[in-house]
Amino acid sequence: MPQSSGSIWSRETYIDTKRPIDEATTLPPEVYKSQEWYDREVETIFLKSWLLATREEEIPNPGDYVRIDIVEEPLIILRDYDGIVRALSASCRHRGSELVAGKGNCKLLKCPYHAWSYKLNGELVAAPSMEDAKGFDKADYTLPSVRAEIWAGFVFINFNENAEPLLESLGNLPKRFASYNMQDMKVTRKWENRFNANWKIWVENSREGYHVRTVHRESLDTYYPGAKNSKFLSEGVPGVYEINSSDNENGLYVPRNKTLPFIEGLSQEDQDTTHFMVYYPHLLMNLPPDRITFHQYFPEGPNWTRIVTWCCFPQATIDLENFEEEAEDKYYPPMELFIAEDKGICELVHRGIGGRLTQRGRFCPTEEKTVHEFAAYVVDHVLGDDENGAITQST
Ligand code: FES
Ligand SMILES: [Fe+2]
Repeated sequence: MPQSSGSIWSRETYIDTKRPIDEATTLPPEVYKSQEWYDREVETIFLKSWLLATREEEIPNPGDYVRIDIVEEPLIILRDYDGIVRALSASCRHRGSELVAGKGNCKLLKCPYHAWSYKLNGELVAAPSMEDAKGFDKADYTLPSVRAEIWAGFVFINFNENAEPLLESLGNLPKRFASYNMQDMKVTRKWENRFNANWKIWVENSREGYHVRTVHRESLDTYYPGAKNSKFLSEGVPGVYEINSSDNENGLYVPRNKTLPFIEGLSQEDQDTTHFMVYYPHLLMNLPPDRITFHQYFPEGPNWTRIVTWCCFPQATIDLENFEEEAEDKYYPPMELFIAEDKGICELVHRGIGGRLTQRGRFCPTEEKTVHEFAAYVVDHVLGDDENGAITQST
């Protein structure tokens, strides 16, 4: 098995990665640090895929908006006065100022710099003192937009006009998770973290239970008793979505001495299972039987990733008298511990992987099936489908 990697732009470099998992070699360390590789990932993965922007309930009323950056693109996600959810550029068509920050409600998007103002469908309706600008027509200065579509209360965006509709791209997921009634859940807590680690390190870490008994040994004990080993069942459609499922015997992602009820209407199998789902490339969701938690990760160059973690409960659970107290006491603190532990280990990997002496490793055949699949997903996107050699635009 070769220990050093050739050019990261040559398909030959990945022949060993794409072998069956018990023979396969991990990705070359350079793909976690290279700016050019990262730029290709943005272009071939993030600008082509459905990306989670927010939850619909964050913008329930006409005029509600949230400002987010996705792969360094400033966007406004809003609900217009026809009730349509839109994703508009947040960059003013005059000289580019950010139009709004944070979240709020507005009738018009009025630029804070020189007061050019836009309707919530992006049309420019006011541009003060522009009468003398020859040939200037406001109709030519609409805010650019990208596609926005909704599934189960999640608002996704897509930079690719030609992408298949969100619901089609989700495959069997909406059906598989319909009984969780996620559209009726409400966000009860959000955390934002910035990791000094490449986004792929975060995804890989989230894909396997191999690290749970070591990295999470402190936090694991706060969860449902029965965590005997880290065996995961898995299913899914590689490259679209994957599900790792941990059954009751292996510990549920539910606090010990739980006091909050399970989601009504779940099958016995789902009551006994925690599903860990990735919808490529941007959404990681954990589905224990009592709530959902999910992570969006926003790559910010090859060395940084911003992670937003959300926790949602069914409204019936939130309405319980003891909800706040129980959530604060038993549900949120272990999540914070898990996040801190994963942040720590991801940053450790990022620091270690950058050395001149760093070499490619091997996958654990029983524990890292989805990590192996993810490696193939990245390579296939970045290098494309052309079987005849390296891509040419890179150096
Ligand atoms: S930059 Fe927005 S009005 Fe001038
Ligand atoms: Fe973890």
